[in-house]
Amino acid sequence: MTTIEYREFEGMPHDDVLRAVAALARELDGLPERGDPDVSAYAEACRVGLLGRPWVHLCLAYADGVLAGYKLGRSDDPRTFESWRGGVLEAYRRRGIGRNLAERQEAWCRTQTFGFMTTLTSHDNRPMLILNLQRGYYIAGTFSKRGRVVNVALEKALTDS
Ligand SMILES: CC(C)(COP(=O)(O)OP(=O)(O)OC[C@H]1O[C@@H](n2cnc3c(N)ncnc32)[C@H](O)[C@@H]1OP(=O)(O)O)[C@@H](O)C(=O)NCCC(=O)NCCS
Repeated sequence: MTTIEYREFEGMPHDDVLRAVAALARELDGLPERGDPDVSAYAEACRVGLLGRPWVHLCLAYADGVLAGYKLGRSDDPRTFESWRGGVLEAYRRRGIGRNLAERQEAWCRTQTFGFMTTLTSHDNRPMLILNLQRGYYIAGTFSKRGRVVNVALEKALTDS
């Protein structure tokens, strides 16, 4: 039986952690960065996306010691936390890892000042949309990105049970 372990980090992750996340993100289906040959460039883009954010939370899932999933969020607004990026390796999906990562992220948010969580996903990302809706997110809007992808903006009030 596979043993799943979780590790959580607050604040800007160390470079080696960002590189591990970048390498994992490249393996995930459905992410724009899949296929990007340069792990360092993706890790750097990630770091830049977190720079100056007073709130950063990262949760990693290890399956028998292998980094199998992550969830990364950020904020510069004490009221709202953005669940920014994440995913689970295909081989480890539908075992509750994505749900567990989301639960841990939300539990951490509830220890902070946030009243809301937000996230974006593409309109055709059914697994992520379903998981988010199950977790109490509601659709706050849609917009088209660079005329190609329709993004769905989701929001969740932390005042709800
Ligand atoms: C979305 C994702 C993170 C879900 O991870 P996961 O570990 O497979 O999710 P879980 O096993 O915790 O699933 C929780 C629930 O979500 C729903 N769900 C997950 N994947 C689903 C799928 N492919 N189809 C339908 N429902 C799905 C189910 O209700 C599931 O509960 P169940 O298995 O008890 O029925 C994963 O599919 C993924 O990494 N996708 C690619 C990366 C990505 O899209 N990241 C987000 C970018 S915004």
